[in-house]
Amino acid sequence: MSPLTAILAPSILAGDHANLAASALGVAALGLKWLHLDIMDGHFVPNLTFGPETLAALRRAGSKLFFDTHLMLSEPHQYVEAFAKAGANLISVHIEPGYDHSATLARIRALGCQCGIVLNPGTPAAAIEPHLNSVDLVLVMTVQPGFGGQAFRRDMLPKLQQVAAWRRERGLSFRLEVDGGVDLDTAAECRAAGADTFVAGTSFFRSKDQTAFAAAIARL
Ligand code: DX5
Ligand code: ZN
Repeated sequence: MSPLTAILAPSILAGDHANLAASALGVAALGLKWLHLDIMDGHFVPNLTFGPETLAALRRAGSKLFFDTHLMLSEPHQYVEAFAKAGANLISVHIEPGYDHSATLARIRALGCQCGIVLNPGTPAAAIEPHLNSVDLVLVMTVQPGFGGQAFRRDMLPKLQQVAAWRRERGLSFRLEVDGGVDLDTAAECRAAGADTFVAGTSFFRSKDQTAFAAAIARL
């Protein structure tokens, strides 16, 4: 199967939290289609961000971007309905907390969204293997989640290669996303390892030329 087209998903975590609508509209103005939204509960990760009302407000402000919603929550199953109603297009949940992963992924789809499964750096690829048939996206974290601006974990590349190999061997078509410390150099390394969907917070929002940044990702 030929590789999926490279998609850039800017992480609004690195946007202007006093004016997230402007940050989202700026992403769309570049012709980009995806926006990554990081939801943190101060429990699964040691930080807090925002909730479904922020997604709803971005929709009311006119954002038509594909909302790639990354739930870093201990109890994600309690919130998928709220995020779906608020305007999420894809909802990703972590494999690490104890809840019914299969039922939650099915519930996300029943709510009309795409679903994704996420692995922390310390979690082996084998943990998500039973779910590969049931997801639209696998997100391999390339930092310990909780904060933007951390250094890319190059030791995650073999995990990406493993998930990409399973996808190829099994004829599956889920997207393979990376998140954390992704810039133009590390994105190229991830692309070579099989990734096709690139979350970029700090590197994108601090870039002096976002148009060139987006074009470089599209060429990967
Ligand atoms: C980390 C978040 C990331 C974060 C990435 O916990 O899941 O999406 O925004 O930020 P950068 O690109 O700055 O590493
Ligand atoms: Zn994220």
